[in-house]
Amino acid sequence: MGGDVAAARSDRHLLQGLTGGPIARTDRLPGEIAAVARTAAVATSPDLSIIVPTLNERDNIRPLIAEVDNALIGVRWEIIFVDDDSRDGTASLIREIARDDPRVRCLQRIGRRGLATACIEGVLASAAPLIAVTDADLQHDERLLPDMLLALQTEPYDLVIGSRYIGDAGSFGWSKRRGQISYLATRLSRLICKADIADPMSGFFMMRREVFEGAVRRLSGQGFKILLDLLASSPKPIPFKELHYVFRPRQRGTSKLDSLVAWEFGVLIADKLIGHIVPVRFALFATIGCIGLCVQLAVLWLALRLSSVGFAVAQSVAVFVAIASNFLLNNFFTYRDQRLRGWRLWRGLATFYVIASIGAVANVDVAADVFHQRSVWWLAGIAGAVIGSVWNYAVSAIFTWKRR
Ligand code: GDD
Ligand code: MN
Repeated sequence: MGGDVAAARSDRHLLQGLTGGPIARTDRLPGEIAAVARTAAVATSPDLSIIVPTLNERDNIRPLIAEVDNALIGVRWEIIFVDDDSRDGTASLIREIARDDPRVRCLQRIGRRGLATACIEGVLASAAPLIAVTDADLQHDERLLPDMLLALQTEPYDLVIGSRYIGDAGSFGWSKRRGQISYLATRLSRLICKADIADPMSGFFMMRREVFEGAVRRLSGQGFKILLDLLASSPKPIPFKELHYVFRPRQRGTSKLDSLVAWEFGVLIADKLIGHIVPVRFALFATIGCIGLCVQLAVLWLALRLSSVGFAVAQSVAVFVAIASNFLLNNFFTYRDQRLRGWRLWRGLATFYVIASIGAVANVDVAADVFHQRSVWWLAGIAGAVIGSVWNYAVSAIFTWKRR
């Protein structure tokens, strides 16, 4: 009985979907109409999900959908935009289009940022067996999509990459510096993914869902380089093919690529190399801690040489300077993605002084304890330093560089 009611209700919705009209009294649809309605609705489930991260791309949305539509005639596709709460109304425009075109969807994230995580969550919100990732700004040539699709359907590849750099690098019209940066980045990315790829930084590719599912729990999700992340996180080598396309200039909106992207690239590489041993941020924090020790010794030496203050005063000044230098270096490197500026910088420095003072007391306490038990001075010193830095790291992550 309950099943019947549910079936009749879903028939009604199907019919409404077909006619676009208001819900009619269709509780008892004739069998054939129900069958047609059901087939029509089921037939729209897509073979290809296209995932597009967006941040302030309003003016590019309609041209992009038109270009995809032209390129993929005869293909059942859907497009999922993952928008990080753009201020220019990108998400509401996408929803407006989606009301007329059910192939279009918007996944809006609030209080979040990041191209890679946007792509990951877009894929997770889709179901098609094939997935494409592309940018919204039309720099990637959507006319490549049919060739990518064909390669996956007829050839033994699991991944097809839209590549800017197949062929002779000399032909890209790059400056010497641009060529060197690209060479270096490609060499670095080879450290973490063994595949010999001309354009591992590409943000334009198509893959089988299994490729994504095999890697998803290991992905770093750090920064811009979702393809590189995927290649480095896959438990087994992915059979791939590269297809050349010409990276077009951006027509509308502005690029989000800045020095932060280079930093995130470095963090991604480091995470894949050492992330299973120690978190990259902690490694950075600890390295800066060592630099801080050098700063402290240098200031102490200077103060004792150049002034007539006693040791305690000199050491206090040295610690004061070292904490500030640690704070500034961490703010610049370790927390580049959440860098504090303006009055937040001063508030951050104040909290860091408080935290580091407590850390120093903990450091001395633990060291004294270990020294009493073992009387090995260097072991005690190291134990104190480790406890002090773990404390400083954990607590400053909460109070100094808390996410806004
Ligand atoms: N959701 C979301 N969140 N989207 C973002 C974010 C973000 O934090 N940052 C950028 N995007 C979106 C942009 O709106 C655009 O659709 C796309 O990601 C790429 O951003 P651009 O600022 O246009 O980057 P690009 O052109 O310098 O670099 C792109 O192309 C390169 C070549 O394929 C990126 O895809 C690079 O990873 C890629 O190497
Ligand atoms: Mn772009």
